[in-house]
Amino acid sequence: MTVQEAKLYGKSNLSVSPTPVLDTDVLLQHITGLDKTHLLLERARKLLPEQETAFLAAIEKRKTGLPVAYITGHKEFFGLDFYVTPDVLIPKPDTELLVELALDALEDKFRANTEKIPTVCDMCTGSGCVGLSILKTLADKSKDSEENKFSTFNFQLSISLVDISEKALDVARINAKRLIPDFTPHFVHSNLFENIPNSFDLIVTNPPYVPHTESLELLKDGRSEPLLALDGDIDEYGEYDFTEDGLSLIRRLVPQCYGHLNRNGVLIMETGEYNAEETAELFKKAGFRNVKIEYDMNEMMRDVTGVK
Ligand SMILES: C[S@@+](CC[C@H](N)C(=O)[O-])C[C@H]1O[C@@H](n2cnc3c(N)ncnc32)[C@H](O)[C@@H]1O
Repeated sequence: MTVQEAKLYGKSNLSVSPTPVLDTDVLLQHITGLDKTHLLLERARKLLPEQETAFLAAIEKRKTGLPVAYITGHKEFFGLDFYVTPDVLIPKPDTELLVELALDALEDKFRANTEKIPTVCDMCTGSGCVGLSILKTLADKSKDSEENKFSTFNFQLSISLVDISEKALDVARINAKRLIPDFTPHFVHSNLFENIPNSFDLIVTNPPYVPHTESLELLKDGRSEPLLALDGDIDEYGEYDFTEDGLSLIRRLVPQCYGHLNRNGVLIMETGEYNAEETAELFKKAGFRNVKIEYDMNEMMRDVTGVK
């Protein structure tokens, strides 16, 4: 089978996918090690027998609905390459806003120029994509500044990555080692703040917020993402608590965040466009001030922010 034949095979066999051409390209890149340009230039190239076998197996998996990221084990987020398995939610482009808002909030804290090292918690960390993108961005900025004598950005940060899923934390540990080998975050296995005695200057979180019925509906396409990562209406044991607004966990989480923030500490939380306004009300009820809703690149309500 040539590269061109493989492309045609993928295109005609992936009617399950809204993006069959792109999916085939990404799978071929992963299997052959060729980049997009070389796949175009080398259309007549024959796949090695083991590459052809791997390609056909990958197409079969994709036909079941399994996302390309779980087949290749990679997903790009905030310009970084994250390792992913079906134990973690695949990082979504909408969530990059959470990282941007967190970096802005931290810049304000660095500018405030206190002696204290800022403390950050990424609650519901999954693959670690939010907390580790924050950390990697600051570490790179600090490295650039060492090489630029006019800049004095010197970054120090204490960061905790928290999840109820041990398997998700294992994935986050691998990502931390790959992306920022010189820095070890704290990995905490905890049901929300149950095992966390300390307080933070910044809490970022992308909790499960999809309503129960919608979560079950989404999973019917074979995407294999963990229900615990999507469904905002089940408890820590996976039991449905008969709410249908996706806010059951967030109702518990918001007051706990308030209790675990230092004075002037900031909470930034991703929500659904359909429950952002109710989430903002929960922030106010818990005592947060300056509560704001931030819009994502599709102009959807996406994040709620508040200050203690
Ligand atoms: C929507 S995913 C977010 C993952 C990642 N932060 C991201 O943005 O892609 C939610 C995560 O929350 C975790 N989670 C669910 N319930 C939790 C709880 N009670 N305490 C801590 N983590 C929880 C899930 O295991 C999952 O990894």
